[in-house]
Amino acid sequence: MVSPEWAPFARTGGLGDCVASLSKFIAQLGHEVKVILPKYASIVLPASTIEHLQPVIVNMGYGTEYGKIWEYKMDNLSIYFIEFERYFDRDGIYSDNDGDFSDNPERFAFLSRMAIDLCYHLNWIPDVIHGHDWTTGLIPVMLDTTERNKPMGHCGFVLTIHNLQHHGYAPKSILNFLGIPHHVFRADGVEAFDQVNMMKAGIYFATKLTTVSENYAKEIQQPEFGCGLDSPLKFRAGDLTGIRNGIDEYLWSPETDPFLPVKFSPTNLSGKAICKKKLQTYCNFARERKTPLFGIVSRLYEQKGLDIFANILPNLLENLTIQVVLLGSGDHFLESRFIQIAKKYYERCFVHIGFHETLSHLIEAGADFFIMPSRFEPCGLNQMYSMRYGTLPIARATGGLKDTIQHFSGSTGTGFLFQDLTDSALYNTIRWTCDLYRNAPEVVTILRKNAMRQDFSWNTSAKKYIDVYRWARK
Ligand code: ADP
Ligand code: GLC
Repeated sequence: MVSPEWAPFARTGGLGDCVASLSKFIAQLGHEVKVILPKYASIVLPASTIEHLQPVIVNMGYGTEYGKIWEYKMDNLSIYFIEFERYFDRDGIYSDNDGDFSDNPERFAFLSRMAIDLCYHLNWIPDVIHGHDWTTGLIPVMLDTTERNKPMGHCGFVLTIHNLQHHGYAPKSILNFLGIPHHVFRADGVEAFDQVNMMKAGIYFATKLTTVSENYAKEIQQPEFGCGLDSPLKFRAGDLTGIRNGIDEYLWSPETDPFLPVKFSPTNLSGKAICKKKLQTYCNFARERKTPLFGIVSRLYEQKGLDIFANILPNLLENLTIQVVLLGSGDHFLESRFIQIAKKYYERCFVHIGFHETLSHLIEAGADFFIMPSRFEPCGLNQMYSMRYGTLPIARATGGLKDTIQHFSGSTGTGFLFQDLTDSALYNTIRWTCDLYRNAPEVVTILRKNAMRQDFSWNTSAKKYIDVYRWARK
């Protein structure tokens, strides 16, 4: 597994959660899994991590580099943390306070080369390399060119697209950086707009492609969601499978969650009411049981549609008796819009800007409803987490949200879906859930139990990945 994120060591959103829980699950099924992850400055290595005395020789196009490795083992799984000061000894994964690092393509191209050379170093030729997003898109290009007649050239490569919006554009010289011949620099290869597009490279060169929900697999073949790569994806449609993400069922279960003050289950929801009180206390809200509490935990970027929520939030707070708690960070303009609103309506609206793991669990558990008005959502983990805690999602019918949430009807359903991302559609859906909460609490309880009983484990999805690995190896 080659990934820029792996929870809990490095995590900005769902990618880190997903890759970590999938790797662990596959290892539990008896497969041998090795993970390669940069040792970012923020990572605190577990005490049992072993330092390798021999560095990895990294065969860059311009000569040799040396990378130090630290290995952390858990049963069938080993994580190799790569220490390389020039690229990874920084606190952020992709950015710092001044914005994205300008050398990101180079950093992850280096990681990609390192992944191949680590296998040689360990004298271990895997059946399949599983790469995640654009950061790993040049691995299959190397397998097909520089490695073609070498042992690693026999590996299959599976690329999982978690988010098609990020492409990783690099100047053509990135090919020299990795020693890749220039014949791949063509429109049905790695080239786009006279640059190297690392996601496109992965799409053309991977043995098999997956994305993180069935619906998103269809959506990205259309111009509306294809981010300019719908044609290559259509071209590779026969090799593309949508596999819904699973979740870590220990960390994200109200029965075992180590971050919760009290546990609860579908047969005994009393702990949920206590979590709600704790959350209300944390937010300095009145501890009213009858006031519906809406939660949000999100990166604050265009994808998430929370600008639309910011448009309607003052009206919601003026017209309805509700409480709202938002945890997130990202776009500074959106952050400050939410901070302003929370200042004015502080008795019923609480905003925490930043990354806060404990609070995110308390929101999932203590809120009544969870809001996700995404413009697009490849899978989305938060709606699955919230359903596990009986917190009903209010989400736009797109991507994985549509696949995982059953829209309320009568007493069936696990949440609420709306179609158009407009102020009025979101406002009316929220108003409707308030009415339901006040006037039909017994229906809300049924929906909560329906939601909590959904199976979002890796059981089925991990087996689908194993099938894809087998096809890729063949
Ligand atoms: P995405 O990967 O697009 O951000 P997902 O729903 O797949 O969306 O996953 C988001 C993950 O990141 C969840 O585990 C969520 O709890 C976590 N997360 C996002 N923002 C924060 C934050 N500010 N504090 C804590 N956790 C966060
Ligand atoms: C991306 C997507 C999100 C998905 C996550 C894990 O960050 O935005 O929808 O759940 O990856 O696959």
